[in-house]
Amino acid sequence: MPKPKVFVTRLIRDKGLDLVKDFCEADIWPEELPPSREVLLEKVRGVEGIVCLLTDKIDAVVLDAAGGQLKVISNHAVGFDNVVVADATVRGIPVGNTPGILTDATADFTFTLLMAAARRLTEAERYLRAGQWVTWGPSTLLGMDMVGKTLGLVGFGRIGRAVAKRARGFEMRVIYFDPQAAPVPELKATPVESLDVLLRESDFVSLHTPLTAETRYMVNADFLSKMKPNAVLVNTSRGGVVDQEALYDALKAKRIFAAALDVTDPEPLPLDCPLLRLENCLIAPHIASASTYSRDMMAYLSAQNLIAGLKGERLPHCVNPEVYER
Ligand code: DGY
Repeated sequence: MPKPKVFVTRLIRDKGLDLVKDFCEADIWPEELPPSREVLLEKVRGVEGIVCLLTDKIDAVVLDAAGGQLKVISNHAVGFDNVVVADATVRGIPVGNTPGILTDATADFTFTLLMAAARRLTEAERYLRAGQWVTWGPSTLLGMDMVGKTLGLVGFGRIGRAVAKRARGFEMRVIYFDPQAAPVPELKATPVESLDVLLRESDFVSLHTPLTAETRYMVNADFLSKMKPNAVLVNTSRGGVVDQEALYDALKAKRIFAAALDVTDPEPLPLDCPLLRLENCLIAPHIASASTYSRDMMAYLSAQNLIAGLKGERLPHCVNPEVYER
Protein backbone atom coordinates (compact mmCIF):
# COMPACT_ATOMS: atom_id res chain seq x y z
CA MET A 1 0.00 0.00 0.00
CA PRO A 2 1.57 3.35 -0.98
CA LYS A 3 2.13 5.77 1.87
CA PRO A 4 0.10 9.02 1.82
CA LYS A 5 1.96 12.03 0.43
CA VAL A 6 2.32 14.99 2.74
CA PHE A 7 4.16 18.30 2.79
CA VAL A 8 5.82 19.50 6.00
CA THR A 9 6.70 23.18 5.74
CA ARG A 10 9.73 23.08 8.10
CA LEU A 11 12.04 20.78 10.00
CA ILE A 12 9.92 20.22 13.09
CA ARG A 13 11.43 18.32 16.04
CA ASP A 14 12.22 14.61 15.55
CA LYS A 15 9.62 13.56 18.13
CA GLY A 16 6.99 14.39 15.52
CA LEU A 17 8.98 14.22 12.32
CA ASP A 18 9.95 10.57 12.89
CA LEU A 19 6.28 9.61 13.16
CA VAL A 20 5.47 11.55 9.99
CA LYS A 21 8.32 9.88 8.10
CA ASP A 22 7.24 6.40 9.25
CA PHE A 23 3.63 6.83 8.21
CA CYS A 24 3.92 9.05 5.14
CA GLU A 25 5.84 9.80 2.02
CA ALA A 26 6.91 13.15 3.40
CA ASP A 27 8.31 16.08 1.48
CA ILE A 28 9.98 18.12 4.24
CA TRP A 29 11.08 21.70 3.61
CA PRO A 30 14.66 21.78 4.90
CA GLU A 31 15.45 25.52 4.93
CA GLU A 32 15.54 27.86 7.92
CA LEU A 33 13.20 30.29 6.15
CA PRO A 34 9.66 29.18 5.27
CA PRO A 35 8.82 28.21 1.69
CA SER A 36 7.70 31.17 -0.40
CA ARG A 37 4.05 31.34 -1.40
CA GLU A 38 4.94 30.08 -4.90
CA VAL A 39 6.90 27.14 -3.53
CA LEU A 40 4.14 26.33 -1.04
CA LEU A 41 1.54 26.26 -3.84
CA GLU A 42 3.78 23.97 -5.85
CA LYS A 43 4.70 21.65 -2.98
CA VAL A 44 1.13 21.02 -1.77
CA ARG A 45 -0.07 19.87 -5.18
CA GLY A 46 -1.45 16.32 -4.86
CA VAL A 47 -0.72 15.87 -1.13
CA GLU A 48 -3.16 14.33 1.35
CA GLY A 49 -1.86 16.23 4.35
CA ILE A 50 0.00 19.41 5.25
CA VAL A 51 1.93 20.18 8.43
CA CYS A 52 2.28 23.95 8.54
CA LEU A 53 3.72 26.56 10.89
CA LEU A 54 2.37 29.91 12.03
CA THR A 55 4.52 31.47 9.32
CA ASP A 56 2.53 29.78 6.53
CA LYS A 57 -0.72 31.30 5.33
CA ILE A 58 -3.14 28.51 4.51
CA ASP A 59 -6.20 29.72 2.64
CA ALA A 60 -8.50 28.75 -0.21
CA VAL A 61 -5.74 29.29 -2.78
CA VAL A 62 -3.47 26.78 -1.03
CA LEU A 63 -6.29 24.30 -0.47
CA ASP A 64 -7.30 24.47 -4.12
CA ALA A 65 -3.69 24.16 -5.23
CA ALA A 66 -3.46 20.99 -3.13
CA GLY A 67 -6.55 19.45 -4.72
CA GLY A 68 -9.61 17.46 -3.69
CA GLN A 69 -7.60 14.58 -2.17
CA LEU A 70 -6.38 16.81 0.69
CA LYS A 71 -7.55 15.28 3.98
CA VAL A 72 -5.98 17.28 6.79
CA ILE A 73 -4.19 20.49 7.79
CA SER A 74 -2.06 20.12 10.90
CA ASN A 75 -0.90 23.43 12.32
CA HIS A 76 2.24 23.23 14.46
CA ALA A 77 0.96 25.83 16.97
CA VAL A 78 -1.91 26.37 19.33
CA GLY A 79 -2.81 29.67 17.62
CA PHE A 80 -4.27 29.19 14.16
CA ASP A 81 -4.86 32.68 12.80
CA ASN A 82 -2.52 31.77 9.90
CA VAL A 83 -5.15 29.30 8.66
CA VAL A 84 -8.40 30.55 7.15
CA VAL A 85 -10.34 27.86 8.96
CA ALA A 86 -13.62 28.66 7.19
CA ASP A 87 -11.95 27.84 3.85
CA ALA A 88 -10.97 24.41 5.20
CA THR A 89 -14.35 23.81 6.83
CA VAL A 90 -16.35 24.40 3.62
CA ARG A 91 -14.12 21.82 1.96
CA GLY A 92 -14.68 19.36 4.84
CA ILE A 93 -11.00 19.45 5.83
CA PRO A 94 -10.21 19.21 9.56
CA VAL A 95 -7.60 21.60 10.95
CA GLY A 96 -5.49 20.48 13.91
CA ASN A 97 -3.57 22.53 16.48
CA THR A 98 -1.39 21.85 19.53
CA PRO A 99 -3.09 23.07 22.72
CA GLY A 100 -2.04 22.37 26.29
CA ILE A 101 1.57 21.36 25.94
CA LEU A 102 2.93 24.88 25.61
CA THR A 103 0.81 26.37 28.39
CA ASP A 104 3.47 26.21 31.11
CA ALA A 105 6.31 27.40 28.88
CA THR A 106 4.21 30.33 27.69
CA ALA A 107 3.04 31.23 31.19
CA ASP A 108 6.63 31.03 32.48
CA PHE A 109 7.77 33.32 29.69
CA THR A 110 4.90 35.73 30.33
CA PHE A 111 6.25 36.06 33.84
CA THR A 112 9.81 36.38 32.56
CA LEU A 113 8.71 39.32 30.40
CA LEU A 114 6.57 40.85 33.12
CA MET A 115 9.38 40.82 35.66
CA ALA A 116 12.04 41.92 33.19
CA ALA A 117 9.92 44.91 32.15
CA ALA A 118 8.98 45.76 35.74
CA ARG A 119 12.63 45.70 36.83
CA ARG A 120 14.05 47.18 33.60
CA LEU A 121 16.33 44.21 33.07
CA THR A 122 17.20 44.64 29.39
CA GLU A 123 17.69 48.38 29.85
CA ALA A 124 19.97 47.68 32.83
CA GLU A 125 22.05 45.25 30.82
CA ARG A 126 22.44 47.78 27.99
CA TYR A 127 23.48 50.36 30.62
CA LEU A 128 26.14 48.02 31.98
CA ARG A 129 27.49 47.04 28.57
CA ALA A 130 27.68 50.72 27.58
CA GLY A 131 30.02 51.33 30.52
CA GLN A 132 27.48 53.49 32.39
CA TRP A 133 27.72 51.46 35.61
CA VAL A 134 30.10 53.72 37.50
CA THR A 135 28.75 53.18 41.03
CA TRP A 136 25.82 51.79 43.03
CA GLY A 137 23.19 54.51 43.08
CA PRO A 138 20.21 54.76 45.47
CA SER A 139 17.94 55.81 42.64
CA THR A 140 19.54 54.00 39.73
CA LEU A 141 17.22 52.04 37.42
CA LEU A 142 14.28 51.91 39.80
CA GLY A 143 11.48 49.61 38.71
CA MET A 144 8.05 48.44 39.74
CA ASP A 145 7.26 46.24 42.73
CA MET A 146 5.07 43.19 42.22
CA VAL A 147 3.85 42.11 45.66
CA GLY A 148 0.38 43.48 46.29
CA LYS A 149 0.02 44.78 42.74
CA THR A 150 -2.88 43.90 40.47
CA LEU A 151 -2.39 41.72 37.43
CA GLY A 152 -5.15 42.05 34.83
CA LEU A 153 -5.51 39.16 32.39
CA VAL A 154 -7.26 39.81 29.10
CA GLY A 155 -8.40 36.26 28.35
CA PHE A 156 -8.68 33.51 30.95
CA GLY A 157 -8.09 30.37 28.89
CA ARG A 158 -5.38 27.80 29.60
CA ILE A 159 -2.47 30.22 29.41
CA GLY A 160 -4.21 33.04 31.26
CA ARG A 161 -5.07 30.64 34.08
CA ALA A 162 -1.49 29.33 34.25
CA VAL A 163 -0.27 32.94 34.54
CA ALA A 164 -2.78 33.53 37.35
CA LYS A 165 -1.35 30.52 39.19
CA ARG A 166 2.16 31.95 39.00
CA ALA A 167 0.97 35.38 40.13
CA ARG A 168 -0.30 33.90 43.40
CA GLY A 169 3.28 33.03 44.31
CA PHE A 170 4.16 36.70 43.92
CA GLU A 171 1.28 37.70 46.18
CA MET A 172 -0.39 39.63 43.41
CA ARG A 173 -4.10 40.28 43.14
CA VAL A 174 -5.39 38.77 39.89
CA ILE A 175 -8.39 40.00 37.92
CA TYR A 176 -9.47 38.95 34.47
CA PHE A 177 -11.82 39.91 31.67
CA ASP A 178 -13.15 36.99 29.66
CA PRO A 179 -16.92 36.74 29.25
CA GLN A 180 -16.60 33.12 28.08
CA ALA A 181 -14.43 31.79 30.90
CA ALA A 182 -15.77 29.60 33.69
CA PRO A 183 -14.55 30.64 37.16
CA VAL A 184 -11.70 28.64 38.72
CA PRO A 185 -12.14 29.27 42.48
CA GLU A 186 -8.79 27.78 43.53
CA LEU A 187 -6.93 30.39 41.47
CA LYS A 188 -8.53 33.19 43.48
CA ALA A 189 -8.77 35.34 40.36
CA THR A 190 -11.67 37.77 40.14
CA PRO A 191 -13.64 38.32 36.94
CA VAL A 192 -14.41 41.95 36.10
CA GLU A 193 -17.40 43.08 34.10
CA SER A 194 -15.54 45.07 31.44
CA LEU A 195 -12.19 45.76 29.88
CA ASP A 196 -12.43 49.33 31.18
CA VAL A 197 -12.57 48.10 34.77
CA LEU A 198 -9.61 45.80 34.15
CA LEU A 199 -7.53 48.61 32.66
CA ARG A 200 -8.46 51.03 35.41
CA GLU A 201 -7.42 48.62 38.18
CA SER A 202 -4.39 46.78 36.77
CA ASP A 203 -0.73 47.53 37.36
CA PHE A 204 0.17 44.79 34.89
CA VAL A 205 -1.98 43.93 31.87
CA SER A 206 -1.24 40.64 30.13
CA LEU A 207 -2.87 39.64 26.84
CA HIS A 208 -4.04 36.06 26.37
CA THR A 209 -6.55 36.31 23.58
CA PRO A 210 -6.44 34.79 20.10
CA LEU A 211 -6.10 37.09 17.10
CA THR A 212 -9.53 37.45 15.50
CA ALA A 213 -11.38 40.19 13.63
CA GLU A 214 -12.62 41.42 17.05
CA THR A 215 -9.24 41.46 18.79
CA ARG A 216 -7.14 42.93 15.95
CA TYR A 217 -5.67 46.22 17.23
CA MET A 218 -7.67 45.86 20.46
CA VAL A 219 -4.76 47.58 22.23
CA ASN A 220 -5.17 50.98 20.58
CA ALA A 221 -4.78 54.57 21.78
CA ASP A 222 -8.07 54.40 23.68
CA PHE A 223 -7.11 51.14 25.45
CA LEU A 224 -3.69 52.52 26.38
CA SER A 225 -5.16 55.79 27.65
CA LYS A 226 -7.26 53.80 30.14
CA MET A 227 -4.24 52.02 31.67
CA LYS A 228 -2.63 53.32 34.86
CA PRO A 229 0.31 55.67 34.23
CA ASN A 230 2.67 53.15 35.87
CA ALA A 231 1.23 50.08 34.21
CA VAL A 232 3.15 47.44 32.25
CA LEU A 233 1.69 45.78 29.14
CA VAL A 234 2.74 42.20 28.33
CA ASN A 235 1.86 40.46 25.07
CA THR A 236 2.50 36.77 24.46
CA SER A 237 -0.58 36.25 22.26
CA ARG A 238 -0.31 37.65 18.74
CA GLY A 239 1.30 40.86 17.51
CA GLY A 240 -1.81 41.90 15.59
CA VAL A 241 -3.71 42.42 18.86
CA VAL A 242 -1.63 45.58 19.46
CA ASP A 243 -1.62 48.77 17.39
CA GLN A 244 2.14 49.31 17.53
CA GLU A 245 2.01 52.98 16.53
CA ALA A 246 -0.34 53.72 19.41
CA LEU A 247 1.89 51.71 21.73
CA TYR A 248 4.94 53.65 20.56
CA ASP A 249 3.19 56.96 21.30
CA ALA A 250 2.12 55.81 24.78
CA LEU A 251 5.57 54.49 25.70
CA LYS A 252 7.42 57.48 24.27
CA ALA A 253 5.19 59.91 26.19
CA LYS A 254 5.57 57.65 29.29
CA ARG A 255 1.80 57.35 29.53
CA ILE A 256 2.49 53.77 30.68
CA PHE A 257 5.62 52.48 32.40
CA ALA A 258 6.74 49.78 29.95
CA ALA A 259 5.75 47.09 27.48
CA ALA A 260 7.15 43.60 26.99
CA LEU A 261 6.26 41.86 23.74
CA ASP A 262 7.00 38.34 22.58
CA VAL A 263 4.96 38.84 19.43
CA THR A 264 4.93 41.67 16.91
CA ASP A 265 3.28 42.67 13.67
CA PRO A 266 4.95 41.87 11.37
CA GLU A 267 7.28 39.07 12.41
CA PRO A 268 10.19 39.36 12.22
CA LEU A 269 10.06 42.97 13.33
CA PRO A 270 11.99 45.23 10.93
CA LEU A 271 15.05 46.71 12.63
CA ASP A 272 13.87 50.24 11.82
CA CYS A 273 10.69 49.76 13.90
CA PRO A 274 10.52 52.78 16.24
CA LEU A 275 9.63 50.52 19.20
CA LEU A 276 13.20 49.23 19.11
CA ARG A 277 14.48 52.71 19.96
CA LEU A 278 12.62 52.85 23.25
CA GLU A 279 14.28 51.89 26.53
CA ASN A 280 10.89 51.01 28.06
CA CYS A 281 9.99 48.44 25.41
CA LEU A 282 11.34 44.93 25.65
CA ILE A 283 10.87 42.74 22.58
CA ALA A 284 11.58 39.01 22.21
CA PRO A 285 11.46 37.07 18.91
CA HIS A 286 8.30 34.99 19.54
CA ILE A 287 9.96 32.46 21.85
CA ALA A 288 7.41 31.95 24.63
CA SER A 289 6.92 28.31 23.63
CA ALA A 290 10.62 27.73 22.92
CA SER A 291 11.35 25.11 25.57
CA THR A 292 12.56 21.68 24.49
CA TYR A 293 9.55 19.89 25.97
CA SER A 294 7.05 22.26 24.36
CA ARG A 295 8.60 22.18 20.92
CA ASP A 296 9.01 18.37 21.06
CA MET A 297 5.37 18.02 22.03
CA MET A 298 4.18 20.53 19.44
CA ALA A 299 5.85 18.34 16.82
CA TYR A 300 4.36 15.20 18.36
CA LEU A 301 0.80 16.55 18.48
CA SER A 302 1.15 17.89 14.93
CA ALA A 303 2.13 14.41 13.78
CA GLN A 304 -0.74 12.81 15.71
CA ASN A 305 -3.25 15.21 14.16
CA LEU A 306 -1.80 14.64 10.70
CA ILE A 307 -1.85 10.86 10.94
CA ALA A 308 -5.38 10.75 12.40
CA GLY A 309 -6.58 12.94 9.51
CA LEU A 310 -4.87 10.75 6.93
CA LYS A 311 -6.52 7.66 8.43
CA GLY A 312 -9.92 9.37 8.29
CA GLU A 313 -10.07 9.43 12.11
CA ARG A 314 -11.10 12.38 14.25
CA LEU A 315 -8.12 14.65 15.00
CA PRO A 316 -7.10 14.57 18.68
CA HIS A 317 -7.07 18.40 18.60
CA CYS A 318 -9.38 19.81 15.97
CA VAL A 319 -10.27 23.50 15.71
CA ASN A 320 -13.21 22.97 13.33
CA PRO A 321 -15.05 19.89 14.71
CA GLU A 322 -18.09 20.94 12.70
CA VAL A 323 -16.48 19.11 9.75
CA TYR A 324 -17.46 15.88 11.49
CA GLU A 325 -21.11 16.88 11.65
CA ARG A 326 -21.57 17.08 7.91
C1 DGY B 1 1.49 29.10 19.25
O1 DGY B 1 1.59 27.87 19.33
O2 DGY B 1 0.48 29.65 18.83
C2 DGY B 1 2.62 29.90 19.72
O3 DGY B 1 2.48 31.24 19.40
C3 DGY B 1 3.93 29.36 19.21
O4 DGY B 1 4.92 29.92 20.00
